[in-house]
Amino acid sequence: MSADQPFKAKLTRYQQRIDAALDRCLPRDDPPEHNLAEAIRYSVLGGSGKRIRPAMVYAAGEAIGVDSASLDAPACAVEMIHAYSLIHDDLPAMDNDDLRRGRATCHRAFDEATAILAGDALQALAYEILTDGHYTRLPLETRIAMLRLLTRASGAHGMAGGQAVDLASVGMQLNLVQLEAMHRLKTGALIRASILLGAMCNPEVSSAEFDMLDKYSQCIGLSFQIVDDILDIIGDTETLGKPQGSDMAQAKPTYPSVLGIEASKQRALDQHAQALAHIAPLGARAQSLRELSSYIVEREF
Ligand code: IPE
Ligand code: IPE
Ligand code: MG
Ligand code: MG
Ligand code: MG
Repeated sequence: MSADQPFKAKLTRYQQRIDAALDRCLPRDDPPEHNLAEAIRYSVLGGSGKRIRPAMVYAAGEAIGVDSASLDAPACAVEMIHAYSLIHDDLPAMDNDDLRRGRATCHRAFDEATAILAGDALQALAYEILTDGHYTRLPLETRIAMLRLLTRASGAHGMAGGQAVDLASVGMQLNLVQLEAMHRLKTGALIRASILLGAMCNPEVSSAEFDMLDKYSQCIGLSFQIVDDILDIIGDTETLGKPQGSDMAQAKPTYPSVLGIEASKQRALDQHAQALAHIAPLGARAQSLRELSSYIVEREF
């Protein structure tokens, strides 16, 4: 199966849309004393980021009849949380990586303090954009529900908690249950939030549709991290835009370290098949979601 051309073109359109939206809402002007806005813009714009989480917001919204304009705010918010998580993930105290999205990591291009603050500021801006009437016209109640979902997905019960487990697991041999629990938090929580925020932009979404999308999101969250772990071994630094072999060098528990590469690939394909089964009842409207799931298991970067 190949990631077909129409989807590539669709992904490019999502990427252009989110890039323009991010450009509009990121801070621009720094006072003479510091370059925080420059570091934020450097980390979010212009690199080789795939924008897969904004694509999830748009595709999930499309599947239940939301117009793209209403999806820009949550799409920006998830990409900002993600960009913040990457800036901090690369810091010397975490993965200590020098390359991200094909160029120097934020703390290398600027300095560590600026990188920490750029992450902090991006996180705050994400929540502002999700709730401020300047960016969203959704009912206040919906905005609060969306904020609750994204804050939970980002915090100790989501991404940050997963990152804590990741760091505490260095050099340890986790079993599959422990590994998947870590990945559900570290990567899965924000991917799930991306899909569900798209769905919540239609306040009339049925609980059956929401439940299908929720199950789909958990499958693609897992397949996404499985592939990320595989590519750390079989990818190359130039294509990945980040250092190949980083996990191995730091003795991180990963899917291939627990299952081997072939069984990991099979597990990703199984998650893909389950993802498709969950959204089957949504029919043609969910075509972008199907293509996204294929893209995740077929990607090489
Ligand atoms: C990398 O995410 C970090 C993980 C959660 C595995 P992506 O592979 O989506 O990174 P970008 O946004 O394309 O740079
Ligand atoms: C990071 O996972 C997940 C985040 C929450 C940022 P990784 O450490 O595997 O991500 P990469 O491989 O550096 O992009
Ligand atoms: Mg990491
Ligand atoms: Mg890392
Ligand atoms: Mg990785």
